[in-house]
Amino acid sequence: MRHELLETLRGTRPIREETFFLGNNIRFLKEHRTYERDRLVFLPAYREIVEAVTEKHLAGAKKVLEVGCGRGFFTKWIAPNWLKGKIVSFDINAALLSEAPKEGNFFQGSIYQLPIKTEQLDAIIGLSSFDSFLFLTKVLRETKKTLKPGGKMIFFQDLGTVLYEDEEKWKEDPIKEVQASAEKHWEDLANDLKREGFRVIEGEESPVTAMGVEKASDIRARLDAQIPDVDFPIFVIGKLGYNVPLLSRRSMVEARIPEKAAQEWFDPKTHKNIRKALSRDLKKAGIKAGAGDVVEVLQLRYLVAEKV
Ligand SMILES: C[S@@+](CC[C@H](N)C(=O)[O-])C[C@H]1O[C@@H](n2cnc3c(N)ncnc32)[C@H](O)[C@@H]1O
Repeated sequence: MRHELLETLRGTRPIREETFFLGNNIRFLKEHRTYERDRLVFLPAYREIVEAVTEKHLAGAKKVLEVGCGRGFFTKWIAPNWLKGKIVSFDINAALLSEAPKEGNFFQGSIYQLPIKTEQLDAIIGLSSFDSFLFLTKVLRETKKTLKPGGKMIFFQDLGTVLYEDEEKWKEDPIKEVQASAEKHWEDLANDLKREGFRVIEGEESPVTAMGVEKASDIRARLDAQIPDVDFPIFVIGKLGYNVPLLSRRSMVEARIPEKAAQEWFDPKTHKNIRKALSRDLKKAGIKAGAGDVVEVLQLRYLVAEKV
């Protein structure tokens, strides 16, 4: 529970937590650029999941607030066009906002003090942002006030939360530890939503997986990816916050992927094994991939809750 976590942070106040994200923190800017590059590999898969969820739940929405938007990845790259004009996004970090797309609606602000009148919004969206808020109960109360009755909260989560990581377990198996931590965060989020008077209407059984296949040249066209020319299909897997491969040795090192895994990445055997392990899913998704094609496998969590 986050509450237990709070007890371990005696004396911490929201403002202390916020100082971690505030200002012109360049470390975040660099991290976000890396994430963006990695995420762009999976773009069609993101769009597939987000389009289905937003079409179902936001078709009639007029005012949507995006929380913790960072550099605007959600509105710039994955929000469907019909939704874009309805979204206003904010973040507390000025450096990130300075790189948000000029044509969007962005402002700097804090989730703990929303400059929005009571019952104004049809929906609130967050992509990988609610895991950044330590004082989640306070956040949910603040956001709930701004929603109209029946308003929706939609969370998408593709990055692992670092709230519960155990140093020792991290050293043993970082991937397993990130995933365990993400699971726990998700469970807490659903429980906190219910406790704060929301009805969780979809997504508790997520993650969902989207699969797609693209030519490596198409991916290279949208980002400066280091995809080698190979004579086998390349599998890229974005699994609960862990993007593998990140298509460059540098980002593998940044993501603390073990050296051995980084070395093995473009070994044909690795991809043959993945293909074998996924064969049933690939067949179900109708995926046929030839040499040099990139098979994108994206796992995303989402949760839809309604203000009751
Ligand atoms: C993991 S990042 C996700 C950014 C973006 N949604 C994305 O997916 O690229 C979490 C974001 O929450 C922002 N954040 C953290 N605390 C905040 C607060 N109190 N108010 C507003 N934004 C906050 C951070 O600055 C950061 O950009």
